[in-house]
Amino acid sequence: MKKSVVFFEVEGGNDKGPDGHRKDTMPMVKALRARDWKADVVYYSDSEFDTLLKQIPDSYDAYVSRINPGHIPGGEQKYFQLLEKLNRSGVVGMPTPEAMVAFGAKDALVKLRDTDLVPSDTYVYYEPDDFRKSFPSVLSTGIRVLKQNRGSTGSGIWRLELINESPVEPGQPLPADTRIQCTEALDNHVEERSLGEFMEFCTQYLVGDSGMIVDMRYLPRIVEGEVRILFVGQTPIFVVHKKPAEGGFSATLFSGAQYTYDDPEKWSHLVDMFLKDLPEIRERLGGHDTPLIWTADFMLDNNPDGSDKYILGEINCSCVGFTSHLDRGIQDMVAEEIIRATTQKLV
Ligand SMILES: Nc1ncnc2c1ncn2[C@@H]1O[C@H](COP(=O)(O)OP(=O)(O)OP(=O)(O)O)[C@@H](O)[C@H]1O
Ligand SMILES: [Mg+2]
Repeated sequence: MKKSVVFFEVEGGNDKGPDGHRKDTMPMVKALRARDWKADVVYYSDSEFDTLLKQIPDSYDAYVSRINPGHIPGGEQKYFQLLEKLNRSGVVGMPTPEAMVAFGAKDALVKLRDTDLVPSDTYVYYEPDDFRKSFPSVLSTGIRVLKQNRGSTGSGIWRLELINESPVEPGQPLPADTRIQCTEALDNHVEERSLGEFMEFCTQYLVGDSGMIVDMRYLPRIVEGEVRILFVGQTPIFVVHKKPAEGGFSATLFSGAQYTYDDPEKWSHLVDMFLKDLPEIRERLGGHDTPLIWTADFMLDNNPDGSDKYILGEINCSCVGFTSHLDRGIQDMVAEEIIRATTQKLV
């Protein structure tokens, strides 16, 4: 073993600090160096593919991906190819591209819909035909949230509600001229459209390999806030309570939601429940190792007896940061986890 790790980033972008890196990247690099491991940051671009493929297996035991695949100019295909090839040549992937997709893509919800964590009426569309055929009948059952896969910070995440009383029975297809109120989670702005017009607009979310739309029941208790658990490996590190701005439904930061950070102990009922379910979740998502740094977001719903129920809204595992907690030494825990995972795989 070389005791050496490479971090991948892309150059530029508004997530970088004055040193050109994500603000929590160098702290992790330094934490590894303090433990006598070598650690470097490399900028990925498609034009560097051949060089990186040649050099990395000779110099590093493992990589840590700090790139949102949706943000690579020209698409994520080549980056995923590189990661796959590195994995095959024995470089430990944190995470592997398969795990990145399994945990991070929005259709993870649909793979978990037979569990208590996701409502059974949660659907995914990959093809425009399927979307056109199914969605008008789903929307007649109640208010829905459509989520595009590449969205982050609420972009392309829409809450959809009929403006007038439904002209059809629940479960029957709504006509294309049905007027709907569409609210985007990006900034809670509202547009009025016809169903047909809006669905045509949504076909952009279905383009390409990772194009998909997840269709989920609207959970009105989102106004009480969304709860995010941040994990390093399988250890819960902190919890963020994200309360949407007055009148909005979006818990994303730029929409004006209020964030409060808590220790996991304060949310032990939720954290313990999720940790208990984690082996089954991993199994259903393909049996991959949990990502190095990842988050799971929950919204409140009601059990039939009126007690609280937590519903999973999404998992993020690309580009999850912990700049809010650098002074709490999370970088040291991450470094320990990198060393543990790499050593376990390679020895
Ligand atoms: N089923 C739902 N019911 C109510 N609100 C929802 C639902 N799904 C999503 N939302 C709201 O929309 C916001 C954005 O949705 P989601 O987190 O799935 O998308 P995202 O754009 O990937 O966000 P992120 O930047 O957190 O990755 C959530 O923070 C939540 O406030
Ligand atoms: Mg989210």
